[in-house]
Order: sequence, then structure tokens, then C-alpha cells
Amino acid sequence: MNIPSSLIRKQFIDFFKAKQHTFIKSAPVAPNDDPTLLFTNAGMNQFKPIFLDQQKPTSPRAVNYQKCIRVSGKHNDLEEVGVDDYHHTFFEMLGNWSFGDYYKEDAITWAWELITKVWKMDKRRLWVSIYKEDEESKTIWLEKTDIPENRVLKFGKKDNFWEMGDTGPCGPCTEIHYYVGDDISGQSSKGVNCEDDYREFWNLVFIQYNRDSNGSLNDLPNKHVDTGAGFERVVSIMNLKKSNYETDLFVPLIEEIEKISGKSKDFESGVAHRVISDHIRMLGFSLADGAIPGSDGRGYVLRRILRRASRFGRTLGLKDPFLYKLVEVLSDTMGEFYAELEDNKDYIKKIILKEEESFGLTLDKGLEVFSSIVKDTHEKDEISGQNAFKLYDTYGFPLDLTELLAREKNLTVDRAGFEFCMDEQRARGKKSSKFSSNKSTKDWIEVLKVAHSDFLGYEEESCLSKVAMFRLDGGKAEIVLDQTPFYAESGGQVGDKGVLRSDTFYANVFDTQKTGDKIIHFCIVKKGDIRSQTEVISEIDHIRRNNIKLNHTATHLLHSALKEVLGKHVQQAGSLVDEDKLRFDLTHYEKLSQEEISMIEMIVNREILKNILLSTDTKSFDDAKSEGAQALFGEKYGDLVRVVDIPGFSMELCGGTHVSRTGDIGSFKISKESSLASGIRRIEAVTGLMAVERANEVSSQINDLKNVLSCSSDSLLIEINNLIHSNKSYLKEISRLRRIEDRQKVKIMVDGAEEINGCKVIVGSLEQTENLKSFGQDCIDQSKSPTILLIGNIKDKAPLVVCAVSNDMVKKVNAAEIAKSVSKVLGGGGGGKPGIATAGGRKPEALDEALKVGYNEIISRI
Ligand code: ALA
Repeated sequence: MNIPSSLIRKQFIDFFKAKQHTFIKSAPVAPNDDPTLLFTNAGMNQFKPIFLDQQKPTSPRAVNYQKCIRVSGKHNDLEEVGVDDYHHTFFEMLGNWSFGDYYKEDAITWAWELITKVWKMDKRRLWVSIYKEDEESKTIWLEKTDIPENRVLKFGKKDNFWEMGDTGPCGPCTEIHYYVGDDISGQSSKGVNCEDDYREFWNLVFIQYNRDSNGSLNDLPNKHVDTGAGFERVVSIMNLKKSNYETDLFVPLIEEIEKISGKSKDFESGVAHRVISDHIRMLGFSLADGAIPGSDGRGYVLRRILRRASRFGRTLGLKDPFLYKLVEVLSDTMGEFYAELEDNKDYIKKIILKEEESFGLTLDKGLEVFSSIVKDTHEKDEISGQNAFKLYDTYGFPLDLTELLAREKNLTVDRAGFEFCMDEQRARGKKSSKFSSNKSTKDWIEVLKVAHSDFLGYEEESCLSKVAMFRLDGGKAEIVLDQTPFYAESGGQVGDKGVLRSDTFYANVFDTQKTGDKIIHFCIVKKGDIRSQTEVISEIDHIRRNNIKLNHTATHLLHSALKEVLGKHVQQAGSLVDEDKLRFDLTHYEKLSQEEISMIEMIVNREILKNILLSTDTKSFDDAKSEGAQALFGEKYGDLVRVVDIPGFSMELCGGTHVSRTGDIGSFKISKESSLASGIRRIEAVTGLMAVERANEVSSQINDLKNVLSCSSDSLLIEINNLIHSNKSYLKEISRLRRIEDRQKVKIMVDGAEEINGCKVIVGSLEQTENLKSFGQDCIDQSKSPTILLIGNIKDKAPLVVCAVSNDMVKKVNAAEIAKSVSKVLGGGGGGKPGIATAGGRKPEALDEALKVGYNEIISRI
């Protein structure tokens, strides 16, 4: 059998299109608009606002294939990945949806029609599970399909009640399973939801509840259908393969791993090949959607996965970075359906390579440390939290990597102990999480039914609005209006501030956010009570909005200028537009030079001076793309998009607010350039009067310098260079004098040194010496009789001791051994050669004690 996955994907989409479903593109796998999710974990995520009645669907039926990642939160399959043949960190989900339209009967009968008539799966291998209380589904399966009654099984909540996360839409489900075993007559109902050979491949969920943050289930106004078929599982079933890794979705990757490592896919039962081919998909797709490896949140999940994959590479003997080499094959395999992989291929490779290189520096040492920890741990015992933390903190081992290594050795890890160490570190660092929300948890009160809030803010800055919903929390209120000029934060542009007022009411709006189609005004109520209001005048802060506009249009100019100066690889990896500044994160691998920065500034100011008239238009996503409009990394776009055009220079998909002509921006100045993460630079810039202020600041700093140095601006650089130069020669002179002083001190020490068994023993501390080791060597070289020197000093709060032994004494006293003993007292390490060795540590206060210990050891040996 060889049925291409692309055909199976197409058959699914075509089948539901023929049943009046609209095709919807996959949403980004790293969503920017749902704080409850690190990654998209199901096809329904992008429809959550529709299920919750916060957004109206564009069509009552939808079909798609969706990129999903399940490595965190409620749905986490990480431990199974690679160990078995059918769990993945990244997978695709085929789905069909009804938004308050058809329900159980059509969902079940269509699924059955597709799998038995189009895909012609062997009915003798199919099983169905239903929720134990869902008699309706049972009747449909038995009366509307030809599945035998003994193949419809009831299960409880754990298996047949589906929930997206701790909160959100949920409901009972019915699942379809396929027996992949060799012996068709050996099937039993006991295997379903229990044994590996019974593959659950399609879940039909009947969404009818919302679980709120208190844990209670609330009825939704409408009933919906949400289905999800594991694409990789369907493809393997259709090709009569037991393993998803034997399908065309994985084979090219596995073959490439074989080629790179020279190890066949059967090497040690294939776990490493499977894990690596799985993980590279997760990494490639998340990076293509704008996620960036980092030390917390989503970024840390990427890092964990990458480090896991690197370590599995080690088991195949791959010491150098190799994952990045798989990106090409990934893009060849999946790029046809996900252009973002192809478009960002070079960027993805570079980021992965950088991460591999940096982990490569500590991985081997960490593995050695792990082995020694294992040696000290009894079989079946626990690796301590401190040790797991040490591996994490010093060698970059994520906890799950340590757990994985421990499992391979039949050990466990003390998670609680590890968390304790982490908490302590957090308390020290006080890091804040990006995924926190300051929204109220109080109930909404609805006074007027509105499907969505009309945004008038492209044209109006104030309007008369009707109050639709509100919720109160002390003096704070969140208010939804039927129409509003307030822009809700999105696309990097901050939410508007302003006021809501009437004769009897006054509230300051301090932020505006969006949930589904509703715009929420976050307010502090200053006067009156929102409960008695039906209408308010809503008015934004004009000056603030105006500054935001300047910065937003300048962001578009900057984006194009960056591409012009640095190259086409530049992608927007994040942005923030507020009233004071704009911040732009870009994919680029090097620090920008001053020349590049000046050129970028020049181009943006040139376009400002041209005073170009902007135009905005709404068109279909495909038309906009084909006209060359720039879509942003990881952004979710509907079928209709707004295009902001600065003719002849920039065209972007953008919902933000902009100036009418570029000349309104006035001026543009980059105020800062820095590194954000590997492969990501951050630029901050200012516009309008702020840019003038910034330029003034710089010129007044130059003025101050001129005054201090009493020179003109033309000779400023020469004067500073002269200063640096004379400073250097002073330092040189100081160090020359110090050396003379030290030598005199040593001469005194040598002259007064005690002689033990014919050997001079010189022990003491110096304050000045620059290079203690060469100094020690010099002294020994100059000495004509047997001599041992042990001298120390403290530099930058760190103690250093050198032990030097003349040739005729090394048989008796080994300098490296003395240094070792000394270093123990100093709380550090030491070593070197028998003739000369050094010791250092973290305890400067222990220097005298360390010298004493060293001295005693020396005299005990001569
Ligand atoms: N949302 C359902 C699932 O993910 C279909 O299984």
C-alpha cells in the first residue's frame, strides 16, 4: 500500500467541503491571542470564541487541518514520544465543525461514511467508544450506521469527556478506534482504550458546556460539533502500517537522520530516530510561527525539546550540531501545505544551529556529571532535587531530560526537591511570567445583546455608545459597548486610553483589550455607577493616540527599511507600539553596525520627507498576499484582511491605526539596538518631537564632553583618544613600578626565609603582583639554592595562590599537590605541574589559613 498523505488530507477536506463546510487555514501553532495556551493543542482552539458566543462564525460549518503541539498543560504526550509509534509532540489534526448547526447524527454518520466508504477502512477492525451517559450517540451509532452493537463501548469521563484545558468549551465525545494488530480474530473489547494495538484516531466532541475558572460546567447557548482526527495515525492506518514513523510524513526525516549519523533506524530499537524526527517537526513549526527559544514560558518548551533531541543525537554518536540539517528535509516534506516553513527556512536553521551550539558546550560535561550522580545513587532510588537542579542550572539540563536519563537507569527524580530549588532561585531572581492576566474573575452582567463591538476608531475619536455588558470589581469596571472609538490592543499596538462619561457618570479607561469580537474597556470609575447607565460618550485620549499613530506607521517604514539594508531574511519577530516609542524585534544574526543604523534612519526619514499618502483597503487574504503585502510571523489572519499601503515603499496586513501621510511622523531616530535572543535583535526608536528630544539629548551630552575636555566638537575624538592613550601608558608604568616593588618585597622574604633541611621556604602574601604565576616562576629561576615558594594575593575579591618548587626539590614536594590542598581551604580548585601550580577559590577571607595549610604540608615533606 502506498497512499500519499497529501491525498488523504485532500480527501478529508473535499469530503466536508462537499457537505457545505468552509475551509479555514490552520491557525499558528504558537498563538498570540490566548493567554491560557502556550501552544495550539487542538483544531478547535481558534474557534473557542465562537463556542463561547463571543464571536460570530463566518460560516456555520468549517473544515481544516491544524498544526498542534502537545507538550504542556492538560494535553501533554511528551513521555510517550518515540517510545511508542503514535504519540507526537507536533502533529496535524483534521477536523470538521458545526457552530450551532448540525449535531450528533450528522457528525457520526459522516465520519462513518468517510472512513468506510471513501477511505474504505476494514470495518472488522473498527471500534467506537461513547460517554457512558450518552444514550443518544449510542442509538445513532446502532441505528444510522452498520457498526455491530458489540463494537460500541461505553466509557467514563477520563476517556470520553473532552476538555480543551482547565477552563473552556467541553463536552462528551465519541471516539473511533482501529485495531492494527496482526491477528484480526484476536480482538477483544478489553483492548480498547487500553492496548497499543487499538489506535484511537478520531474524536467527535459534542461541545455543550463551558468549564469556568471555579471548575463548574455551564451550559453554552448553542450546541456545537468539534472533531479531530490524528492525521499521522490516519495515514498509517490507511497504509496498513503499525507505526506513524513508517509513513511519508516521517520517512524522509528518518532517512536523513540515518544518513547524518550512519546508524540505521533499527539502532537500539529506533527510539532516537523517532524522537529526533518528531522533535524537529515541533521545533521547525514553532519557529516558523514566531516562537523563540528562551528561558521561560513557551520559549523554554522549545529549548527543552531541542535539548532532548540533542541528547538523543549523542546516543547516535552525533557530537556536532545536526538538527539544523534536518530543516531542509522538513521543509521539502511539509512546505507545500505550510508555506511558512519554506519562507523561514534559513532563519529556522540558524536559530536551531545557535541553540545546538550553545547546549553542545555543556551537554557532554553534564552527561559526565549525571553519570557520577548515578554512581552515587542506589538502584531504584531517587536522584536528589539538588542534583537535578545542579544539572539544570549549571549544565542546562531541563528537568524532563534528567528524568528521561534517570528512567533509562531505573531511577526517579525528586521533583518536589527540584521545584524547591527552583522556587528559591525564582525568589532570588523575581522573574515575572508573560502569561499572567489581570482580568477580573467576576461575572458579566449583560444589559444589551450585541454580537460584537463596532470599532469606529479608524475615523472617529469619540462617539455615543450604548452599554452592552459590564463587570465590576471594587472601583474597577470592565465595560463592553455596542460601538467604540477605542482600539483594543493587537498587532503590537497598545490599547487606547480615554474616558467614558455621561451627565451622571465618569470613568477613566486605562486599557482596552479584545475578547473574541468584543472590545473591553478597563476602567476606574470616578463618578456614578455604571449599573444605571445605558449610554455614554466614549472618547479616546487624542494626543496619546496621535503619538501611537506616528509610531505605528514608522514601524512599517522601519520594517521595509530593515529589509532594504539588512536583507530579505529579516522578519518581524515581535513589536510594541505605544505613545512613547516603538520597539521592533527582528530576525537577524549580528549586531547592527552604526553604519547600518544610520542608513536605516536615513531611509525612514527619506520616506517621511516624501510625505506619502497612505491608503487602507480590505481584501481577501490571498489577493493581498499576491499583491505582495507583508504578513506577520505567527499572526492569525481571517479570509478578509486589512491592508495598509505606503505606496512605493511598504504594504502590510495590519489592523492598527496610522497617520494619513508619512510626513505626519515628522522625524525618526533609533534610540537603542540590542540582542533579544539568539538570532533576534531588538530595535527601539522614537518619532516626532520625541526624536527631536532624543537628538537634543545626544547633542547636550556632546556639549558636556566638550566642556569637560575644553575642546571643540571637531577635536573631541582626538582628545578622547589622547586620554585613552595616556591612561594606557600610565597603567603600564604603574604595573612596572609594582613589579619592582614586589621584587624588593620578595628579596626581603628570601633573605629572611627560614631554611628547613637545606631548602628555603618562602610563604607570604603580596598585594600588588599582576601575574602571580610568572612572578613565582621568575623567583624560582633566580634562586640558586633549593627553594619552595608559596605566595598568594587577592585580585578582584578572588584569592589566588601560586606554589613554585625548584627542580632539585620537586621529587619531595609536588607543587600541584600543594595547590590542591590549598584550594580546598579557598573553596575552589587548583592544579598545575610539579614545578609550578596555582589554586583559586571563592573565599578570600581564607587566604591566610590556606597559606598556613600549604606551609604545613610543605614542611612535612622536606
Ligand atoms: N478537540 C478534540 C480533540 O482534540 C476533537 O480531541
